[in-house]
Amino acid sequence: MQKKQKPRDLSVEEIKAKITGDIGREIFFYNKVGSTNTVALEFAEKGSSEGVVVLADCQEKGKGRLKRRWMSPPGVNIYMSIILKPKIEPEYVTLITIMAAVACVTALRTVTGINVTIKWPNDLTVSDKKIGGILTEVKTDHDRVIFAVIGIGINVNVDIDTFPDDIKKTATSAKNETGKPYSRTDIIAEILNETDRWYKILNNSGQEMLLSKWQELASTIGRSVKIIIGNETLTGLAESIDDKGMLILRLPSGVSKRINAGDLTMLR
Ligand code: BTN
Repeated sequence: MQKKQKPRDLSVEEIKAKITGDIGREIFFYNKVGSTNTVALEFAEKGSSEGVVVLADCQEKGKGRLKRRWMSPPGVNIYMSIILKPKIEPEYVTLITIMAAVACVTALRTVTGINVTIKWPNDLTVSDKKIGGILTEVKTDHDRVIFAVIGIGINVNVDIDTFPDDIKKTATSAKNETGKPYSRTDIIAEILNETDRWYKILNNSGQEMLLSKWQELASTIGRSVKIIIGNETLTGLAESIDDKGMLILRLPSGVSKRINAGDLTMLR
């Protein structure tokens, strides 16, 4: 019988050796889970500390935004969740996703050289195709965030042709972009170090610095967009984001509207 090989491009020991901050000092690795976010939420509920990471080679019930599934085949991609305990009010929680997006894009650009950008609110894109996504889940009481779980999914070495037709039209992977395979270890370590760096900036009154970095890395700002919010569809110009991470959309009437969440498509 053939012995199952551990994927050589993913090593928790090597990730830990590259960690420079507080996030990622403790990593729980699973070959297969339902969803790393679900596991991390359970850990946080039981009192796990800030900075703990749940990492998996494969997910059977990977969760995307808006109750979509997240394709999570084994041996090729990144599926991880980070537990944080940010000292912010619940209305500012989008800043955690904003911070994670900045960390992921910076890390992906450093390791792969690919021009990854951010599509509001949480998509990591290359030429408007999705290379990754972030799903932040939180537990709050009325005036504070008790914990946040940042779920990060990145298509690294997957062959996009193996994805279902509806997804492959809008998705890409790092390998798909350049033809080269990448080390998941290197990308994960860089994401965790960048998350540590930006989280410290955010906690030290660096909100403006974070928001301006986000705008620099975003492909959404200045574009004509369509946003579906429940049953409502809005079109307009994506002007900027506000101090809570809400998108400021200029409607054809000239009125600006703040949007908290929605499904955004770039029109041109
Ligand atoms: C999106 O819809 O863009 C968000 C996708 C988030 C996927 C990641 S993979 C790791 C973590 N666990 C999950 O079940 N989802 C997130």
